[in-house]
Amino acid sequence: MEIIVGKTAGFCFGVENAVTKTEKQLQEEKEVYCLGELVHNTQVTDSLVKMGAKFIDNIEDAKGKVIIRAHGIPKETYSKAEKLNLNLVDLTCPKVLHIHKIASEYESKGYFIIITGKASHPETIGTVSYCGDNYYIIEKEEDVEDAIEKYNNSKCTRLLVISQTTYSMDKFEHIIEKLKNKINEEEIEIKNTICSATKERQEETKEIAKQVQIMIIVGSKHSSNSSKLYEIASKYCKDVIFIETETDLDLNILKNKKTVGIMAGASTPKNSIQKIIEKLQKVC
Ligand code: F3S
Repeated sequence: MEIIVGKTAGFCFGVENAVTKTEKQLQEEKEVYCLGELVHNTQVTDSLVKMGAKFIDNIEDAKGKVIIRAHGIPKETYSKAEKLNLNLVDLTCPKVLHIHKIASEYESKGYFIIITGKASHPETIGTVSYCGDNYYIIEKEEDVEDAIEKYNNSKCTRLLVISQTTYSMDKFEHIIEKLKNKINEEEIEIKNTICSATKERQEETKEIAKQVQIMIIVGSKHSSNSSKLYEIASKYCKDVIFIETETDLDLNILKNKKTVGIMAGASTPKNSIQKIIEKLQKVC
């Protein structure tokens, strides 16, 4: 059996940075608090807990250094931390900070802001805090009509479209097409803020899925970018499985398969991918 492993599978630069710097803090400090799940991956968070990390949902519960994850936080949380005199280790990915800057700038220029992304995702929640009152989150293509209605009912005359860094490229393009059909071109400004690491990973997933008989996506079910990879792979390959670790891999489904592809989300550690490869090699 031939195994094709994606070159872009596993931690992206922002997650790698957040995990290694958190581990460093845990070696140096007694009390380290992580605000929210550092990465959407149970293996990684369990290992950080073993090293002494304390995960909290509210900044008010911190009593020592507070790690800010790559997804970023709403601006109100920075104000709360300042009032509480907390020492932050801000590991927000620079690409997310860039989106906050764009949203802030266009909000102050009076734009209505559309964000393509998942409303409940921490990154989107953070971005929304920089958009003021005039914004709409498009989760799926069918939301376009509602977004236009909200824009038309607002006092804004200009529209900015930005995206969550891990949104689907294909969906983003379709949404832009729909918006352009309904709104004058001079009213609308588009900034595709999907991160290049996401774009490359989605492209590679598509390419591998076209070549193999079965595709394995490695990542947590609650990882937004891993779920997108599963969706993309399912479009181009008939057999796709979505697993978190090698123990979830049932080798029976690989019977009669000659080619298998492996891709993993930005929050999947390399060793989880490696263990799956090793399990597959035993039956090859
Ligand atoms: Fe940053 Fe892109 Fe990763 S925004 S956290 S490098 S997916």
